[in-house]
Amino acid sequence: MKVLVIGSGAREHALVAALSRDPGVDAIIAAPGNPGIAGMCEIRNVEATDPAAVTALAGDLGADLVVIGPEAPLVAGVADALRAAGFPVFGPDAAAARLEGSKAFAKEVMAAAGVPTAASVAATTVDQAKAALTEFGAPHVVKADGLAAGKGVVVTEDFETALAHATDCLSASDRVVIEDYLAGPEVSLFVLCDGTTAVPLAPAQDFKRIGDGDTGPNTGGMGAYSPLPWAPADVAEQITRLVAQPVVDEMARRGAPFTGLLYCGLALTKKGIEVVEFNVRFGDPETQSVLDRLQTPLGRTLLAAAQGRLAEIDPLVWSEQASVTLVLAAAGYPGTVRKGDPITGLDEAAALPGVLVLHAGTALGATGEIVTAGGRVLSVVASGDTLAAARDLAYRAAALIDWPGKQNRTDIAQAAIDGRITVPAGA
Ligand code: GLY
Repeated sequence: MKVLVIGSGAREHALVAALSRDPGVDAIIAAPGNPGIAGMCEIRNVEATDPAAVTALAGDLGADLVVIGPEAPLVAGVADALRAAGFPVFGPDAAAARLEGSKAFAKEVMAAAGVPTAASVAATTVDQAKAALTEFGAPHVVKADGLAAGKGVVVTEDFETALAHATDCLSASDRVVIEDYLAGPEVSLFVLCDGTTAVPLAPAQDFKRIGDGDTGPNTGGMGAYSPLPWAPADVAEQITRLVAQPVVDEMARRGAPFTGLLYCGLALTKKGIEVVEFNVRFGDPETQSVLDRLQTPLGRTLLAAAQGRLAEIDPLVWSEQASVTLVLAAAGYPGTVRKGDPITGLDEAAALPGVLVLHAGTALGATGEIVTAGGRVLSVVASGDTLAAARDLAYRAAALIDWPGKQNRTDIAQAAIDGRITVPAGA
């Protein structure tokens, strides 16, 4: 099978790494890819959000499966164009991708499907936003309605900061979502969907804030781990039953079947499982650790989803090992980042057994060296017999890699290892 992977981040590097382990996959092509992915498979240049260009590339390659990594091509209709041209695609059509593209649409679908989520108001004026912020009280949760690369959400105790973000959002779009705050540990559950059937992957947790102790602004994600030793053993089954399957059914009922990956971001609150957000693609950086643990061949599983055959697949098999992912970010991230800093220690880190160094914001410098080229630069993924062992290895590997202004959190997975995460009674 020949698989075309669309995207250029560490998530796509993780997808390529996992597809490379599938004996049924003979060729992988990533587009546009990055210098790290280029060390693993062929890369082609393409404008990932251009439906005609991606479809032409799939035709040129004779792809048997196209896997779309990021949300922007999905919202732009790249999957629609590929499906119309007859290619099996892992990724939803634009109509179903609205679950991520519009927070207000996602809330409407959840209400129709009876899926538990925070109370919310889609405000269209600053006065409505102010009233909703006052009604829900602190901590305030303000979400831009459209795509914002993980940076459209502000959670703050400060009313004025919340109102300023709501006002900014309303200057860019016609509505902003104000939500009640969900208190409880967060879980990311990725669910494979084929329009009808929902099959969960292993749960993970990510770290959205830039600073240790969950401080500072939101980012795309600064680290992740899987499995979750503190979560109920049946958490994936519960989320699938209460959240993913009802959403898949509701989207089918609306004539917008969901085929691809439904990312359920949830909080385990004292009222039970509640949805924080949906995304319509693999999460980054959770994918790096989730796929690190997947033993079932990925290519044939994603093809089964693309072809509506998930009900026929065997149960997924997971490694007993734990996996920890650390994101190494450039100076300035999540604000304006400095680019072009030479990166050292990549080979030394990757040579450690159990470590994968996955590229995101990297580029080739003038003399062929790898330099920083984006906010989140690398993901260092490490596996171990225990979460503590995986974490130690990840930090040892990350310490070998350097560039001026490198940033990473120092507390990824530590609270779970220390037993400091508690699930409220009722969850
Ligand atoms: N890790 C958060 C995201 O992928 O959106």
